[in-house]
Amino acid sequence: MSSAINLNLDIKGMIFDLDGVIADTAHLHYKAWCKIAWQWKFNLSVDQNEKLKGVSRNNAMRKIANWAGKNLSEKELENFADQKNAFYLNYCESLSPEDTLPGVVSFIDQCRRTGMKLAVGSASKNAKIILQKLQIIDVFQIIVDGNMVEKSKPHPEVFLKAAELMKIKPSDCVVFEDSQSGIQAAINAGMMTIGIGSSDLGDCNAQIQSFEKYNLNKLISQINN
Ligand code: BG6
Ligand code: MG
Repeated sequence: MSSAINLNLDIKGMIFDLDGVIADTAHLHYKAWCKIAWQWKFNLSVDQNEKLKGVSRNNAMRKIANWAGKNLSEKELENFADQKNAFYLNYCESLSPEDTLPGVVSFIDQCRRTGMKLAVGSASKNAKIILQKLQIIDVFQIIVDGNMVEKSKPHPEVFLKAAELMKIKPSDCVVFEDSQSGIQAAINAGMMTIGIGSSDLGDCNAQIQSFEKYNLNKLISQINN
């Protein structure tokens, strides 16, 4: 059992994106989208996929159809989005706690021991299923997922709702995000931002490759810079 940590922090709440931040699932979304695109003999590139990260299922579907030059009705788009979700959930069947990304669980545990509030802010309608499979759902006081918002990132709704439910001012929250749209959403919400990964994430306060060897002291020095 790990002990409490006393820190004099300006940060009062942490909001974690799910796919590509907590869970190693971003490549599963990509694989499922590729399967849809191949039906149209369209190769979805890695760069295009970067633009789908953080975006809701239906909006991602529209973007792909557009890139592939497909003119589809709303009903057809919906059917393909359902198909993609079936592929995705099938890939997620075998997810276990080992599919959390390196270092993220111990970082979250360190944050938890400060007594700070922890939330998930995800565009995914499957967020709760995935968090359950990773056996990490109970750590978060608040989970805002794709079923609870109307507007997709880069709109700030998902993060503002998380802050509101945590009863914390947006400017006292830090968001951890791996997507361009997610970083923009957090900036639009007036929150501090830490980008995760090596792709160009725009104007975040700081960016780290992964949570490996990351800790609260490093976060504090990044935020104070
Ligand atoms: C985001 C992912 O977290 O959730 C996107 O980065 C995904 O790739 C979006 O499209 C919606 O997910 P779901 O599970 O509702 O289809
Ligand atoms: Mg993500």
